[in-house]
Amino acid sequence: MIVDIIPIRREEWQVKYRRLGKTDMKVSVIGVGTWQFGGEWGKSFAQEEVNRILGRAKEQGINLLDTAECYGDHLSEELIGGYLAQDRREDWIVATKFGHHFHEKFSRTDVFTPDDVLKQLEASLKALRTDYVDLYQFHSGPDAVFDNDALWTALDKQVQAGKIRHLGISIGSNKNIHQTSAASRIGASAIQVVYNRLEREPESEVFPSCQEQDLGVLARVPLASGYLSGKYKPGATFGAGDVRHRHDPAAVERKLKEVESIQANEVPTGMDMAKWALAWCLKHNAVTAVIPGCKNEEQVDANAAAAELLSDNHPQAWKPAE
Ligand SMILES: NC(=O)c1ccc[n+]([C@@H]2O[C@H](COP(=O)([O-])OP(=O)(O)OC[C@H]3O[C@@H](n4cnc5c(N)ncnc54)[C@H](OP(=O)(O)O)[C@@H]3O)[C@@H](O)[C@H]2O)c1
Repeated sequence: MIVDIIPIRREEWQVKYRRLGKTDMKVSVIGVGTWQFGGEWGKSFAQEEVNRILGRAKEQGINLLDTAECYGDHLSEELIGGYLAQDRREDWIVATKFGHHFHEKFSRTDVFTPDDVLKQLEASLKALRTDYVDLYQFHSGPDAVFDNDALWTALDKQVQAGKIRHLGISIGSNKNIHQTSAASRIGASAIQVVYNRLEREPESEVFPSCQEQDLGVLARVPLASGYLSGKYKPGATFGAGDVRHRHDPAAVERKLKEVESIQANEVPTGMDMAKWALAWCLKHNAVTAVIPGCKNEEQVDANAAAAELLSDNHPQAWKPAE
């Protein structure tokens, strides 16, 4: 018997949207993380590949991109800028970051002085080929530089000038309640934090603080660097150009064993584990969106499909009237 394969209509896979904290920004629950475009994941990207990945993301209804100054020397931003130049800029929520100078792969230095950060902002705008950033995030810096009021005053002027729509904080440690609890005071509207089925630390202090302040939460590393996709088994190794080659092998082994157990006991039979893992993050009431790193269009499709596992019943769900 020949069985017709009915193509899945795109609209059935459209992502859902949430309000990013108290901002007016409507973000897709699934975004695209673009550290990968900087070349530290064992692969470099041509402009055409990035255009295909982001074009597919748009078809899926994804509108949120996360990048940074140091994913390559503004390289990831340049590739995104190349794409944005041939698309409608206003259709996208572009989140980038500040605080590092990239020297070569896996080598950066922290630079959080106000003068330098303003130069970094100009370089990001140029690379992204835009005149504003939707979310400008403090990139995992130490408390000593975070506590410099002159930095936030300088950035507030850029908000007033229209170059930044909103400020955010990407906390380096999942325990960093110091920076999280200061978010509203320094004018930040969103926190970025590592959150996934293997890393639940933010649930104890960071998420309650975000909920109390009505901050948006971007869950980064939602697939635990790909380990939670279920495609890697204990004993897996990674090439020298892939950031995972630098991870502690014993810790990776422990994670992969835990993933095997989760796959056997928690993931419904036949379900793609990456899809399940992203939906798992998005079910927490504090989490606005996940930003999985994507290397190709197939991963964009698989990640976007996580939205179909979600109900509309979330405190930040975007209401049609908004
Ligand atoms: N300090 C910070 O602010 C900071 C730090 C880290 C990350 N980030 C941001 O967060 C984003 C996400 O984190 P991440 O990229 O480190 O980790 P991640 O999203 O947990 O993992 C990304 C990797 O998972 C694999 N993958 C993605 N989708 C998949 C799918 N559907 N099926 C199977 N495998 C899939 C891909 O690698 P393979 O196919 O090679 O396995 C991809 O490179 C970054 O891109 C970046 O934008 C920010």
